[in-house]
Amino acid sequence: MAKLKVYEYPHPVLKQKAEKVAKVDDKIRSFLDDMLETMYDAAGVGLAAPQVGVSKRIVVIDVAHPDEGEERNPIYLVNPEIIWHSDEESCQYEGCLSVPDQSAEVSRYKQVRVQYLDYNGKEAEIMAEGLLAIALQHEIDHLDGILYIDRISRLKRQMLLKKLQKMRQEEE
Ligand code: NI
Repeated sequence: MAKLKVYEYPHPVLKQKAEKVAKVDDKIRSFLDDMLETMYDAAGVGLAAPQVGVSKRIVVIDVAHPDEGEERNPIYLVNPEIIWHSDEESCQYEGCLSVPDQSAEVSRYKQVRVQYLDYNGKEAEIMAEGLLAIALQHEIDHLDGILYIDRISRLKRQMLLKKLQKMRQEEE
């Protein structure tokens, strides 16, 4: 396994619509392993392939809390698609490894059902609520070139990006 470089806003790969994967083969599996390692290393709960510079419809998610004694529970999703969602939405704080150290409240569907190909290329479905539902919507957005900051008001986005810029300048 290898740790991958995480691309940050405003890298253009984050704005691209990612391409479907034709077949889940060993190359894709090895990439899934690398993505998971990269996500764990960055203490993220989700990572989409465009965030590591690969414009393909691939996502890894793990919303378990190993620091609270929970077992790791990685979910590998290839070509994920939301096939159902609740009418009800809820608003929660989200962050993103591609927009480091920032967060904002985003409205998402409370529940979603997602169809995807698993690690072995088998068709699978997952019904999710809570943090997992948020993570699924956030990561699938990445595959369509959408960041969570695209889903907040223009004013909030400008403030957030200003903070990000300031933080980067201080790091230099
Ligand atoms: Ni993200």
